[in-house]
Amino acid sequence: MFKRVPGTKDILPEEASSWQTVEARARKIFSLYNYQEIRTPIIEDAALFNRTLGSTTEIVQKQMFLIHNQDDTYALRPEGTASIVRSYLENNLDKEVGFVKLYYIGPMFRLERPQKGRLRQFHHIGCEAIGSSSAALDVEIISLAEQLLKAFGITNYKIKINSLGCLKDKQALSLNLKEELQKKSEELCCDCQERIKTNVLRVLDCKNDNCQKIVKQFCPQESHLCPDCLQHFSQVKDGLNNLNIKFEIAPHLVRGLDYYNRTVFEISHPDLGSQDAIGAGGRYNNLVKDLGGPELEGVGFAFGVERLLLAKTNLIQNPDKKLVYLITLGETAKSAGLKILNQLRNAEIPADTDYLNRSLKAAMRSANDAKASLVLILGDDELKKNIISVKDMSKSTQKEVPIQNLIEELKC
Ligand code: HAM
Repeated sequence: MFKRVPGTKDILPEEASSWQTVEARARKIFSLYNYQEIRTPIIEDAALFNRTLGSTTEIVQKQMFLIHNQDDTYALRPEGTASIVRSYLENNLDKEVGFVKLYYIGPMFRLERPQKGRLRQFHHIGCEAIGSSSAALDVEIISLAEQLLKAFGITNYKIKINSLGCLKDKQALSLNLKEELQKKSEELCCDCQERIKTNVLRVLDCKNDNCQKIVKQFCPQESHLCPDCLQHFSQVKDGLNNLNIKFEIAPHLVRGLDYYNRTVFEISHPDLGSQDAIGAGGRYNNLVKDLGGPELEGVGFAFGVERLLLAKTNLIQNPDKKLVYLITLGETAKSAGLKILNQLRNAEIPADTDYLNRSLKAAMRSANDAKASLVLILGDDELKKNIISVKDMSKSTQKEVPIQNLIEELKC
């Protein structure tokens, strides 16, 4: 028997209803904040991610699913931001609309070692606001992330924020760190020894305890920020306080993708174990320009849906579902029943029937398993009298209704 690829999941119908609820609530909140949906392809030119995430980042070096096709190399998208900015420019949204607020929901792919909360195919609910450098937009984005968590019924999360500063600040910080950390190189883990050469900022958020101890003394607090970036960060913090959003300053938070500058943030949850980030995001003020567009700034975030569901396991059956289950007894009733089933669905009443010719008792059990709120019973005798029995499953009451009044009766 074939097995699914490691690090991928089948989302079976029982779980799918939680997914639908999460997605529906997300769409509602995005729409409250006036974000519009964008859907981009799952495959992109691999070079897009080399260019934007950074050729020395873990994702690009080790985690991309690549498809080699004659002269081209495509990648299954490992994240959404680069694709959205590519699409924004390719479709001339920069010229035609300028400022946009976009959201997306869909699968992402990273060739990681699978473990709890870390998959090879996972799903993002994310958003990007492109075309403004306003600190108020950073605040909106973080507040939107928090509203989503509230809508999903997730509590106990922690919002951590930091500012990386502008490109110049980041470069100066990297140089400084490189100099300092080279002196301690032998005490760092193997990965960090490599990071000093390739992506020194990532040493700051290495999870190794020893590395943490060493970098603690070099954590820049806000000393690496130029006056403009300092002011921007202070506006972000004031804005969050103004909205009573609780956050922690995390000077070691740098995030794994090269395109970030200024504000970065991460939202963690204690139920998740070692992969404790349920979502993360930040500013990317040079990304549009790096992809050949004008100087336009952006900010966004993404939640990992699988991790959201780990943080809220008892989520959320679809409360609106009111299934009507039809049981027919006898051949004539069966054919009349199919007509009634059709009428119910045309009247937008969710309805199903038994296709396995089960006994009344067994069919009642299926209705129960299907969580039907009403069961209709139609036998040849009822049909002769032009009536149908309607059983209310929660109240355990039953009444007879003329078939021609059925829809009206069920809609009350
Ligand atoms: P990211 O931190 O790489 O950011 O991913 C965002 C979230 O996706 C993580 O916080 C985590 O919940 C989830 N996630 C990441 N990798 C996996 C995995 N292998 N398995 C399960 N869940 C995972 C980004 O991708 C940025 N594009 C976010 C962003 C949008 N920044 C600005 N705009």
